[in-house]
Amino acid sequence: MTVQTQTATATIALGEVLGVHLKPGDVILLNGDLGAGKTTFTKGIAQGLGIRQPIKSPTFTLIREYQRGRYPLYHMDMYRLESGGSADLGLEEYFNGDGIVVVEWSQYIQSELPATYLTIDLKKDAQNDAFRQINFTPIGSHYEKLVQQVLAAYHHE
Ligand SMILES: Nc1ncnc2c1ncn2[C@@H]1O[C@H](COP(=O)(O)OP(=O)(O)OP(=O)(O)O)[C@@H](O)[C@H]1O
Ligand SMILES: [Mg+2]
Repeated sequence: MTVQTQTATATIALGEVLGVHLKPGDVILLNGDLGAGKTTFTKGIAQGLGIRQPIKSPTFTLIREYQRGRYPLYHMDMYRLESGGSADLGLEEYFNGDGIVVVEWSQYIQSELPATYLTIDLKKDAQNDAFRQINFTPIGSHYEKLVQQVLAAYHHE
């Protein structure tokens, strides 16, 4: 299922609805080109989790942790991961932990991903610079239910 947003603020608002519905252990993979809006969407997730600190892109640190919301948020960006470098990151502990994991550029840690997750693809519009197509692909029944809840809540806003 796909939602179109026309501003960064609208993408944050959609992320916030998702953030409200997330539970410990949930894994969200954000796909899309540079500048598609993955970090922007994560700002919304953080808002939905009640995190008030500013969300900064983890491009250089690879992982940023936010402990002050309803649940911990682990925000990862694997774009600059050196090949083979993921062994040092202790990813399993994040995926099996009590927080929410959001991953940008997850294709670089493909073999370490859990069996189920929610993939969200963000795509820029060819016609309008500020438009994004945001497509949800749930893997597993838990994430199928989650997407249904999020869409129902989003369309009632
Ligand atoms: N509808 C929209 N949704 C999201 N971002 C938008 C939208 N319109 C404009 N923007 C702008 O596009 C940029 C998206 O940048 P962002 O850092 O979120 O991308 P990213 O996918 O995380 O990129 P990277 O792969 O470099 O980490 C921001 O400057 C944001 O303000
Ligand atoms: Mg980013």
